[in-house]
Amino acid sequence: MNTTLFVNAAQTVTCAGAADARRGAAMNDAGIRTGCGVAVQGEMIVKVDTDAALRAAFPNAHEVDCDRGLLAPGFVDSHTHAVFGAARFAEHELRATGVPYLEIARRGGGIHSSVRDLRATSNDALYALAVPRIARLAAGGVTTIEIKSGYGLTVHDELRTLRVVRQLQDTVSMRIVPTCLGAHEVPLEYRDAPDGRLAWIVALEEELHPAVAREGLAVFADIFAEPGVFTTEESRRILLGARASGLALKMHADELHDGGAAVLGAELGVTSADHLAAISDSGIAALAASRTVATLLPSTMLFLGTGRQAPARRLIEAGAAVALATDFNPGTSPLTSFPMLLTLAVSELRMSAAEAWVAATVNGAAALGLAAQTGQLAEGFSADIAVHSADDYRELPYWFGERLCRVAWSRGRACHSS
Ligand code: NIG
Ligand code: FE
Repeated sequence: MNTTLFVNAAQTVTCAGAADARRGAAMNDAGIRTGCGVAVQGEMIVKVDTDAALRAAFPNAHEVDCDRGLLAPGFVDSHTHAVFGAARFAEHELRATGVPYLEIARRGGGIHSSVRDLRATSNDALYALAVPRIARLAAGGVTTIEIKSGYGLTVHDELRTLRVVRQLQDTVSMRIVPTCLGAHEVPLEYRDAPDGRLAWIVALEEELHPAVAREGLAVFADIFAEPGVFTTEESRRILLGARASGLALKMHADELHDGGAAVLGAELGVTSADHLAAISDSGIAALAASRTVATLLPSTMLFLGTGRQAPARRLIEAGAAVALATDFNPGTSPLTSFPMLLTLAVSELRMSAAEAWVAATVNGAAALGLAAQTGQLAEGFSADIAVHSADDYRELPYWFGERLCRVAWSRGRACHSS
């Protein structure tokens, strides 16, 4: 089999270690090495060693010259809403005048405007809009992304969205993990009808989640568990129903107000509880004692202008496993530059650069149930690799707003080169 060697790196971020989320103090070791390269055969990393040892073991290999750059695992963006139609910049300005995010949704805007828009947009158009967005994520060194539905909010339009995600999986050089977010909101036509809320919950339970599981259209079911959207009791019911259908679970939890969602997530053992900017002390303790990954989305809090961020330090110090993701979506985080999250992690969340790297790789993988496949430069892991124009891992958070990624490979195939 043909072998490719990534050699001549100034520094290598391996994140190598157990095939599991890193929690607490263990997050501070990103496995930084010097003089270390990677050998790839097909979709897999077959060896990580000194350049000399790799050349001796694979004398006929093709070489990718890292040109004294930074060799690293590809980033894992475990939370995106990348399939949507139009941008929502009017709402961005409206929030600046003081109208809160949830009030805009109450008036029928926000998520509901993306729902109206997606319902009127063809699959082909949705696909064509998503492809360059994924390319922009790859250009920042991302090699795995999760994509949620959640702007369809009819059984038909949710399934249609997930079929677009399937088409992307089949055609784009990027590992894509699909999530059904039918519980993103109560659709307006249900919200305004008597017993409408309950009718939508029943539609999720009896129609959407079973159909998604039956057709294998998603790995996860997700929910916006937030006071004013789905209550904790509704969330429990919807999540347990989705699990009974055969889907793994994720949550948008305690984003803007604490409603006990993180505590519920830990109790149910969801794979990840995301956002957590309003998490309570008991939520922190519950997540730290669970296997649930605490995924933080600092660009969302920044873009919403809340002046607040999730308590990353308290989560890490309590022993939780923290991941970082873009939350890429048209309402609260139109961000496709993953490296910007490393900056926000250090500057806003007070994480070390090593913690930020671990959160962006190993722990992002764990947030998708992929900790044994991706997130590490280590033998037996998928060839998900990025080379950045930097000679120290701390430069990625430092040079904020820059795109330093030169090359990215997902499963042994180039998904970006500049
Ligand atoms: O993660 N909070 C809920 N969902 C998204 C935003 C969706 C939207 O506003 O379109 C989020 O922030
Ligand atoms: Fe989200």
